[in-house]
Amino acid sequence: MTDRERALHLLQRIEREGLYASLVLQHETGFVRTLVLGVLRWRSRLDFVISELAARPLKKLDTLVVEVLRTGVYQLLYMDVAKYAAVSETVDLAPKRARGIVNAVLRRVSEGHAPEPRDVATRTAHPPWLIERWTRAYGAERASKIADANQQLSYPDVLALAGEAPPDAIASTLVPELWKLHGSSAELDRARFHPMDEGSAVIAAIARACGEDVLDLAAAPGGKTIYMRHRGARVVANDVSIARLRPLAKHHDRIVVADGRRPPFTRKFDVVLLDAPCSATGTIRKNPEIKWRLRESELAAFAKLQRELLDSALELASQYVVYSTCSLEPEENDAVVNGRHVDATPFVPEGARAWIDGGVLRLTPESGADGFTAFVIRR
Ligand SMILES: C[S@@+](CC[C@H](N)C(=O)[O-])C[C@H]1O[C@@H](n2cnc3c(N)ncnc32)[C@H](O)[C@@H]1O
Repeated sequence: MTDRERALHLLQRIEREGLYASLVLQHETGFVRTLVLGVLRWRSRLDFVISELAARPLKKLDTLVVEVLRTGVYQLLYMDVAKYAAVSETVDLAPKRARGIVNAVLRRVSEGHAPEPRDVATRTAHPPWLIERWTRAYGAERASKIADANQQLSYPDVLALAGEAPPDAIASTLVPELWKLHGSSAELDRARFHPMDEGSAVIAAIARACGEDVLDLAAAPGGKTIYMRHRGARVVANDVSIARLRPLAKHHDRIVVADGRRPPFTRKFDVVLLDAPCSATGTIRKNPEIKWRLRESELAAFAKLQRELLDSALELASQYVVYSTCSLEPEENDAVVNGRHVDATPFVPEGARAWIDGGVLRLTPESGADGFTAFVIRR
């Protein structure tokens, strides 16, 4: 299989089977990874170019032909590849009956005739409903910046467990002991460097600043537990999913598998961190497929679960609850907490304080980190 065939095959699997791109691409590097993530990241903008140049709505083309065209247009517009090879090898992937149209569209793009979209949603390749809701929540200028930030390439960050810095990394300005890499983390020794997003580490640092006896109520896969423990907290890690907890079990022995709405604990904890299951709209840069999959109607179901889990967290905490999500949506954040929070500033690491608004941490992707919202509630 050529790299182009492989990328097409993976894109079809991600789409058909609803798989996470980050998992499917775990062992892929270079061309295939860049092409698959790029097509997912720029999908609606590629579709705009295709439908304009094919002079027909996308619905009139079969789905395989559209996917082939997306891979070709992406290579021509965003990758440093030989134009001739990008056109001819992509045309070869199309079914015979469609090769004429694929060739015609790709030729036009390779000659510099791709049209420029004018609206923010198409320009930044986001579904219009998401841009509209970020505009309502954050204003038009910030909404457009968030969408632009989601289109940047991202590299992994790592927590330095043994004190020394990883090679070729720069220190996070948001949170202590996190390092930003300029490439893959695959070569690094996992015993010394734990991959985790800077934004996630900021949340763990907030919970750690609230106390050292912590229940992490929705802990899997466990990045925040590892961060808090590394910073000297005693952490019990709970999650409903035994499969998602398994990787953490290798490093950590205080693990409980339970539905956080019906917790089995007979004592209270000084601090409960509820890093709630959510729509994950703050993580679109790393997981671009989310924006095409999520339906606005799903937010209500997340909010219901978040409220139930927060009720339970409030029962279990003797001093503080930290409620966080990697969602940027008010329904999953402010509407769930409902004004019960105190000013989070004293608990937020100094480097991240610029992202506090009205006592709430609202870290959005222009920070370079995943987007997170966090509230501190005093018991
Ligand atoms: C945002 S993730 C947590 C990420 C984690 N805190 C970390 O830093 O690695 C949300 C987690 O909530 C868990 N979850 C979903 N419903 C739950 C429930 N009813 N009780 C406990 N955990 C639940 C999911 O399995 C998922 O692992």
